[in-house]
Amino acid sequence: MSRRRTVSWPDRVRSFIGYCLSEPLYRAFSLVPHWEWGLSDHDVSILTHPHPSLAGRRAVHLTDLHLDRYQARHDRIVETVSDLHPDWIFVTGDLLNVPEGLPHLFRFLEQLRAIAPLYMTLGNHDHYSGVPVAQYAELADRHKITLLVNQSAIVSTGKGELAIVGVDDPSLHRADLRCVPPRANSRFTLLLAHAPNILDYVEAQHAIDLILCGHSHGGQWRVPGIPTFWLPPGCNGRVEGFYQRGKHRLYLNRGLGWSFLPFRWNCRPEIAVIDWIEE
Ligand SMILES: [Fe+2]
Repeated sequence: MSRRRTVSWPDRVRSFIGYCLSEPLYRAFSLVPHWEWGLSDHDVSILTHPHPSLAGRRAVHLTDLHLDRYQARHDRIVETVSDLHPDWIFVTGDLLNVPEGLPHLFRFLEQLRAIAPLYMTLGNHDHYSGVPVAQYAELADRHKITLLVNQSAIVSTGKGELAIVGVDDPSLHRADLRCVPPRANSRFTLLLAHAPNILDYVEAQHAIDLILCGHSHGGQWRVPGIPTFWLPPGCNGRVEGFYQRGKHRLYLNRGLGWSFLPFRWNCRPEIAVIDWIEE
């Protein structure tokens, strides 16, 4: 997969079907703009990672915003993120569902950017929406946000480096892992990817210390006693929390939003915090 740059016909068909479903549902729920269920509160998950050159630093990870309409809960998310005092904020795609969401999305993102440097990548719904990647890039530039689409950025931390790699959506086979920088001393490499199937594509030579992703929504609807029945393609059975394959470790965040139907059931939205500590 790491050598692919073109989008296959099955993925184009999936994008078309995704768009055809998202658009009428967005129109229908626009008639009741404040109606949503199970999204008003969020959990904060704290993850710790030993690494001497980043000890004492903190990042916040958000995913699956699906932000087509700005709600009061978005102010509460900004407040929580601000109270966490992060050094960096990472957003792993599914920013919106339809182009009409762009002003609402950037109203939210610009408030996050005022808290800390913001790095983000794209998910399947960002492509389903029909918004061109160039338009996301132009708006991100204008708001001083770093959009990484099969690209990486290296930040000096004084004692070492944080490499932030953002790949395009793995569930649509757009991820290109050639952008992962080589291993280096005192460097922590973080991979931002929308879908957790990226864990099936990373290879032993990829110097990646942690992968952050979303896409599953934790199943979005959980009926007690019944196994998770909704997981989009690209999850490969992964629902939430940590997963490991070989040396690579991935954290799957339940995300903040919804797709197709504006409700979550027994599946609270999540903000993840990464605290780096001394070894
Ligand atoms: Fe999503």
